[in-house]
Order: sequence, then structure tokens, then C-alpha cells
Amino acid sequence: MQLTGGAVSRYNCRFSLNTPATMPSAISIQAVSKRFGQLQALDAISFNVEQGEFFALLGPNGAGKTTLITTMAGLTRADSGSVRIMGNDVVTQFREARRSLGVVPQELVFDPFLTVRETLRFQSGYFGLPRNDVWIDELLHKLGLADKADANMRALSGGMKRRVMVAQALVHRPPVIVLDEPTAGVDVELRQSLWEFVRELNAAGHTIILTTHYLEEAETLCSRIAMLKNGRLIALDNMDKLLAHSARREVALKLSAALPAELEALRLRQEEGRHILQLQDLGQLENVLSILRHRNITVRELNVIETDLESVFVKMMNGVTV
Ligand SMILES: Nc1ncnc2c1ncn2[C@@H]1O[C@H](COP(=O)(O)OP(=O)(O)OP(=O)(O)O)[C@@H](O)[C@H]1O
Ligand SMILES: [Mg+2]
Repeated sequence: MQLTGGAVSRYNCRFSLNTPATMPSAISIQAVSKRFGQLQALDAISFNVEQGEFFALLGPNGAGKTTLITTMAGLTRADSGSVRIMGNDVVTQFREARRSLGVVPQELVFDPFLTVRETLRFQSGYFGLPRNDVWIDELLHKLGLADKADANMRALSGGMKRRVMVAQALVHRPPVIVLDEPTAGVDVELRQSLWEFVRELNAAGHTIILTTHYLEEAETLCSRIAMLKNGRLIALDNMDKLLAHSARREVALKLSAALPAELEALRLRQEEGRHILQLQDLGQLENVLSILRHRNITVRELNVIETDLESVFVKMMNGVTV
């Protein structure tokens, strides 16, 4: 395990150095379903997140991400199924489960009459940690809030409030940290410093679960992802596997003549005079080129279209298997 200096290493020691021989999953979700009236918000969701993972939970608006997260935090009660945080059931072992988890909520929730420091002290008190000022100061410093410690919450900008939400989630030093769209509406500087901090926490052994609509964030940060759609789990894989699976299978060709009839079946679309072909694998390209040679058609331009998470995501959301 890598221990970084300063706040994070101390932060981590309490939890990770005495890991038992059989480590429970950081999060274990078993057949979780939840309805709101007629709406099936979660439909038999099952997956585990192992300790130390940096995991992305993705899906379009209304997919069920926040519902799943509030279920993890014990704020929403699943109709059926179970959720365990570090081995503790969120219903029958609520206190232990809740202590292991820090959630940065999607919605900004705060008391406008408290200062930033009071907000964090209250949260500490909630977890039975009355003398936590050293750690609170470190968090304020790490999140660029030191000069706002005595400002009232209502006087903070939206981005600053979000920083306080992050500090609040970390105040009891949870081993598992869930961030529900933490970068929505925050400036580039905070996004970068937030990710740097979260990466440090992850490097020090903390499990991170992230939801975001900025797919490039998920692609750079996370090693495994789950995709939800209409309350269903539609993909669960390692990031590189998911990308490799659908990677480099599209090529754009600009030709000296029309596309031969035998290649029509491969054509996905035409864009600005280029034929976009879908191949089974790159090896198939040889076959395509030999057909073109045979017909005396010159290839004026050939580009392999790189797959990124966004294109995989869009395909999956449109029901295309990648
Ligand atoms: N308390 C509630 N009562 C009724 N319906 C709800 C409630 N909470 C969520 N829903 C519905 O459940 C579905 C899933 O919502 P949820 O907030 O989990 O989606 P999400 O994936 O987090 O979306 P977003 O990306 O917009 O944050 C939505 O259709 C939402 O309207
Ligand atoms: Mg949400």
C-alpha cells in the first residue's frame, strides 16, 4: 500500500493497516430493487466494489445513480435486496455501515446560519468525534477553504459550498467515499484540485465511487465502471476492457470511387465524403483494402476512429452492444 505524506497517510492509518485476512468488499450490492410508485428506479442491481478501487457509476439523468447512493447511505430503504458497506448491512448494522461511508451528495444541503467550521464540527459530533479540529483544519486547507472557515454557509458561492460538502463527507475519515456528481457546476481549478485530493485518498487505500456526467473524468480516474439505465445495470467492466472491446473497430475511408457493393454491409454511415465502416477487428481491414485494390479504387484517406468512453456510453444508452 502506498502512503502519501501529510493528511492522507494519517487519515488512512486508522482503517487500512489492520486489514483482516479476508477483506470484505468495500460495497456489496445484492439484488437491490426500489420502486417509487409505478417507477422502477432500481431493478435487481447486483455488483461489488472492492477495497481500494476507483469506481465509476455512470448513467443518464434518472438512471437511478443517486437512488443507489442514498440506499448505500441508508437514506433510501430498498424494497428488496441488501447493501453492505465494509461488510456491514446498511439496515441491520446502520451505524457501522454509515461510519464506513462518506457521501458527497448531489444536492447542496446545509444550514445557512452555521459557519463552515461549525458545519464540520456538527458533522463530527454526529459521528461522536467532538475533538476533531486538527483534521478539520487539514480538510479546510486541502480544499482551499481555510480563509472561509468563519464565513456563514449562506455567504459562500456554489462551488465553495460544494467544497464544504466534500469536507463534510470526509470529516469522520471514512474508508469508502462516494461522490455524487461532485464537479457539477464547479470551476476548472476546483475540479483539478478536487481530483488531485481524491486521487491521493485513493492511493492511500480509500475506495472511491464516483458518479459524473463528465465522462472524460471517469475515463481518466476510474479503473472500473458500472453503467445504469432505467434502473438496470447494463454494463460492469474494467475501463480498459470496455474500451478495448469496442476500440478501433471503426474506420473512416475516403475513396477515389463509390464504395463497392460487397462492402456496403460494413458501412455505418457517410460523413463529409468519408465512408465509416464497422469492422469485427482491425484484421478485417486487410480484407477491405484488398477488395478496394482489386477494384482499382484508391484510398485517399484512412483513419481509425479511436473509441472513448463517451462513444461507448452513447452506444450502450442507445441499446447497441459494444
Ligand atoms: N423520492 C422520490 N420519489 C419519487 N421518485 C423518485 C424519488 N427519487 C428519485 N425518483 C425517481 O427515480 C428515478 C431515478 O432517479 P435518480 O435521482 O436516482 O437518478 P440519477 O441517475 O441520479 O439521475 P441524475 O443524473 O439526474 O442525477 C428518476 O426517475 C426519479 O425521478
Ligand atoms: Mg443523481
